[in-house]
Amino acid sequence: MNNNEEIDINKLPKHVAIIMDGNGRWAKQRGKMRIFGHENGVEAVRRTVEQCARLQIQYLTLYAFSTENWNRPKLEVETLMRLLVASLRKELKTLNKNNIRLNAVGRLDSLPKKASNELKEVIEKTSENAGTTLTLALSYGSREEIKTAVKAISSKVKNNIISPENIDEDVINAHLYTHFLPDVDLLIRTSGEHRISNFLLWQIAYAELYFIDVFWPDFSEQHLMQAILSYQNRERRFGKTSEQLS
Ligand code: FPP
Repeated sequence: MNNNEEIDINKLPKHVAIIMDGNGRWAKQRGKMRIFGHENGVEAVRRTVEQCARLQIQYLTLYAFSTENWNRPKLEVETLMRLLVASLRKELKTLNKNNIRLNAVGRLDSLPKKASNELKEVIEKTSENAGTTLTLALSYGSREEIKTAVKAISSKVKNNIISPENIDEDVINAHLYTHFLPDVDLLIRTSGEHRISNFLLWQIAYAELYFIDVFWPDFSEQHLMQAILSYQNRERRFGKTSEQLS
């Protein structure tokens, strides 16, 4: 199947978000350490980002490290952080060449200094790029994000900056880490698990969900095309009836 010919480039999802799952199981299947899965996961990240840039997908958000991932063995956490730093260093040129702008969401202050410095540098050095916005969710948890937003809004109410009756969805959006992103259109999760795992709970309210039984290191350009094709074959009603849409 040549998916390239089948997708409608005029009906692309504006914002694609991905839960990259299955690195550990992919490595285990091969009798290797989990870290081997993460290393190969980086290759899948590169393929996916470049494909989104080629398709001119406006926003791609990747769940790279959750708040819960801090509880993994120390060596695995250190390896993930090392991979992040190495990838940022290595890919800066490619990001610029492909006009990709990097951003990050999450408790970025909890990242190791080396990682947060590298991240800041690449964010700064790609800030003029106007193609795909690649957002890495790092030390990210949706409930933590919502809690932080509620605290910030409450403090503004207390200081008479906002009145409670003016708190609407736009105000809430503006206080989320993702304030610069539109709602997610297509959420993909690899590895065959059918869970959201505390990712963008507010932002996926009307997203189309796509679960694929492939471990993240095996996720290819063709799999992304299949996901987009599936998205394009769905009717997004946003609470309306089919008749109202046509
Ligand atoms: C899930 O697989 C994957 C992660 C927790 C991390 C994703 C990280 C990468 C792909 C590499 C680094 C990222 C960047 C952006 C350079 P898992 O370990 O939960 O797999 P399992 O469910 O099979 O154990």
